[in-house]
Amino acid sequence: MAFFSSTLTTPQTGEVPRHIAIVMDGNGRWAAHRKLPRVAGHVRGLDAVRNIVDACVQRGVEYLTLFAFSSENWRRPNEEVSFLMRLFISALEREIDKLHESEIRLRVIGALDAFDAFEPRIQELVRAAEARTETHQRLTLTIAANYGGRWDILQAAQKLAFERLLLGPTAFASPFKEADLAPHLSMVYAPEPDLFIRTGGEKRISNFLLWQLAYTEFYFTDKFWPDFDAEMLDLAISEYQKRERRFGRTSAQVRPNSGHLF
Ligand code: IPE
Ligand code: IPE
Ligand code: MG
Repeated sequence: MAFFSSTLTTPQTGEVPRHIAIVMDGNGRWAAHRKLPRVAGHVRGLDAVRNIVDACVQRGVEYLTLFAFSSENWRRPNEEVSFLMRLFISALEREIDKLHESEIRLRVIGALDAFDAFEPRIQELVRAAEARTETHQRLTLTIAANYGGRWDILQAAQKLAFERLLLGPTAFASPFKEADLAPHLSMVYAPEPDLFIRTGGEKRISNFLLWQLAYTEFYFTDKFWPDFDAEMLDLAISEYQKRERRFGRTSAQVRPNSGHLF
């Protein structure tokens, strides 16, 4: 199976990031600043999602990946977790027609079976939405729900081990290579993110795409997610355009006519 890898080959990069991955953080603090309940921030956060999806389509971004619920977010109070589930379900039900009309392919990554305790229909809804939009190519929108970067690597390792097991014990004698594991990772269909954005002021990955961020450019902003708009996205993209992506090489190799001697 074909897959993308920034460590096995040097990716071609362009002016507009092909893949943007966002940790949408700061909903709760956005609400607290307005003396509103935290969940009001999540509702406004969904408006920001709509705006940023549209903005990415207009700018020719091919893949947008949004961290909606981490494997550690189960630690939050039950009421907030249930609210987030309901918001996710209603967004899926309400937005799917629009995504379809806009030729957006929807993908959901994460351990979805865990949601069944809350809403048995959720896997069905997700699979139906994915199937309906499967052939679209304008933008691939991936929602990471009950996702953890460690979970992703572990589930891929388990599948690889099972594959080897079927081949017999001697198959374990050869070392696991990146090309063996990569096809089992949940974002195999997408190139690795070019640009990682985190709103809300924290400067951490919080167990988002660990494997896939190997050579991604990082951008942090103090803006809370509900306030993040197309103009702020453009700021992030223009910062990205100033970066020199070397993938291990020297400046002179990346820009042979730049006057660098070494
Ligand atoms: C991000 O906003 C949304 C989710 C994690 C679901 P938060 O809810 O983490 O907002 P803060 O960080 O508490 O402000
Ligand atoms: C990361 O935000 C997860 C999502 C945005 C879904 P958190 O608010 O959960 O991250 P921490 O706990 O501050 O690291
Ligand atoms: Mg947070």
